[in-house]
Amino acid sequence: MKIAAFEILRFDELESTNTTALEYAGKGAGKKLVITAQKQTAGRGRRGRSWQSLAGNLFFSLLLEYPLKQLGTLIMASALSIAETIKEYQADADVKLKWPNDVLLNNAKVCGMLLEKGCDEYMVVGIGVNIKQSPQSEEMLYPVISLREAGITADAEDFLQKYLHRFTDNLQTDAAILRQKWLQNVKGLGQKITVKQEDNEITGIFAGIDENADLLLQTNGEVRRILAGDVFYVEKNQ
Ligand code: BTN
Repeated sequence: MKIAAFEILRFDELESTNTTALEYAGKGAGKKLVITAQKQTAGRGRRGRSWQSLAGNLFFSLLLEYPLKQLGTLIMASALSIAETIKEYQADADVKLKWPNDVLLNNAKVCGMLLEKGCDEYMVVGIGVNIKQSPQSEEMLYPVISLREAGITADAEDFLQKYLHRFTDNLQTDAAILRQKWLQNVKGLGQKITVKQEDNEITGIFAGIDENADLLLQTNGEVRRILAGDVFYVEKNQ
């Protein structure tokens, strides 16, 4: 089945493309929109963090109707498509996924995503890609990088177009095959990780993800399902 193309709405400046996408949810049923801005004045990250808007980087939000019970597919398709898009520019780029939906390049974060639920069955997938610059600050939880710093020359608009093709294809892929592809591209599978949550942290072996894209962590012989958190890699050679 061929699914409808996204309509792209371009803005010079927004507080947050996610916030604007949420405002569009429910207006124009069935429409699939991309909201993109050159600059965000209040970009939002996961778990209440902010997302810096550095010039030349890509900020966009996908707005689409998607059943909540298939959220796992949406999460996997969104992140995998970024990894594949980067490889379109450099086939041998060292790109890895980091649960739940970060993308790493040379072991540093090049892309982050914030998924939010709108009204009815509308979902917003907000994506920030460090195309030209990476935010350098002591507060960073994880090393960061841009495509440019990794020697990959890309234009934000061209990257977005390539991404939308990949995303549309991946969203139509069988969920089990998609999960296989996601697992083949993730960092640290079968290795020791720590998941930090609001007020606790759990260390165990990263055993995979389930069909909802929840993390499976093996601790003391049992496999725990983790819904949210930040992953840190424990072993030096990871
Ligand atoms: C994270 O890694 O914490 C998620 C970052 C998500 C940032 C993007 S930029 C476009 C969209 N609009 C936002 O306000 N946030 C997302």
